[in-house]
Amino acid sequence: MDFDPADPAFVADPYPAYAALRRDAPVWWYGPGGFWLVARHADVDALLRDPRLGRVFVPREPAEEFGPWNLVNEHAMLEREPPDHTRLRRLVAGAFTPRRAEELRGRVRALAADLLDPVVAAGGGDLVAAFAEPLPVAVIAELLGVPAADRHLLRPWSNAIVGLYELEPGPGVAGRAVAAARDFTAYLRALLAERRRRPGDDLLSALAVAAVDGDRLTEDELVATAVLLLNAGHEASVNVLAGGVLALLRHPGQLARLRADPGLAPRAVEELIRYDTPLSLFQRTAFADVAVGDQVVRAGDRVGLLLGSANRDPAAFDRPDDLDVGRTPNRHVGFGAGIHYCLGAPLARVELQEALALLLPLHLALAADPPMRPTFQFRGPATLPVTL
Ligand code: HEM
Repeated sequence: MDFDPADPAFVADPYPAYAALRRDAPVWWYGPGGFWLVARHADVDALLRDPRLGRVFVPREPAEEFGPWNLVNEHAMLEREPPDHTRLRRLVAGAFTPRRAEELRGRVRALAADLLDPVVAAGGGDLVAAFAEPLPVAVIAELLGVPAADRHLLRPWSNAIVGLYELEPGPGVAGRAVAAARDFTAYLRALLAERRRRPGDDLLSALAVAAVDGDRLTEDELVATAVLLLNAGHEASVNVLAGGVLALLRHPGQLARLRADPGLAPRAVEELIRYDTPLSLFQRTAFADVAVGDQVVRAGDRVGLLLGSANRDPAAFDRPDDLDVGRTPNRHVGFGAGIHYCLGAPLARVELQEALALLLPLHLALAADPPMRPTFQFRGPATLPVTL
């Protein structure tokens, strides 16, 4: 099978390889990773919801070297199962409901407008650096209460930490990931101490107090939760924003349709996540033998669920390789499914809808064919040079 996350051609366009997997080897042993790759929508969706599988965090060795990186991952809800997962998720879930996301809509629009103004004044620029990156970072940083002057630190720390999520991290990635995890946790411990002394009206203050009050969260869990929210709060949104604009520019008919009917924006956002899914794969470990198609996944085996492939499965979507901004129904798995279903989905939707509402009226045009990021797990354009 043609699945090679280290091959730039595969990373640039994985969809033909996904189609072959779905057709010929929907549950395929991926030797280099040591897990089963699962390519069909029905299987991916079912396994995400199946309590016979779950996240099992395996610390990286040697422990002395990987300590800071292991710490931020091991204690994050994304890597836990009940009862820890339930406890950690419940603590912050209230801040990410659809109602809370709606309350932030006006603020998101203002932040987006501020970022777009200079691009408009300059007649164009790189939409990744000028807009798609800083917008989600600003939104999540403001929500947690990271001071504006420190926000430039977040994206480099996050990028370095998640570099180790790649199936085949390149040279130097591990060292940068560990250093970033160490610096990020030191920064957050100091900020949390400060918020405990002088609480503000932000999520970090609420978390810091919750930890002190009720013995509900250890200090390590608190730091890991903050890192997860700050990182997950922008990594995927950046790529959907940039990749979504790119997909629309490459489909002028769909762009015109959306311009003519802005009421389609909520459906368009779901379609952009489906069409070029920003997070390619998530793993689970089987706690019991589980039949997947013709294959039995044994207890202890790991599976890699290919969200990007599931979202192009013709068994689940009509004309899956077409971009259709009015697509309905759209049961994509871009936000996952089951107990780890994306906590930030309501916020991500508001961000993407507001960003599109500002971008659509502009006469955007591609100034050059943008390169994709060289990473498999995190998928999106590296730059997006536009004129307007
Ligand atoms: C379009 C943007 C986004 C996409 C496509 C996305 C996608 C995902 C996916 C696929 C998962 C599940 C991972 C798994 O099953 O193992 C997930 C989990 C998560 N996401 Fe998002 N995400 C986005 C934006 C956000 C935002 C804005 C936040 C804000 C805090 C966020 C926070 C989280 C958290 C905390 C989890 C872990 C949930 C858990 O383990 O219970 N995400 N996301």
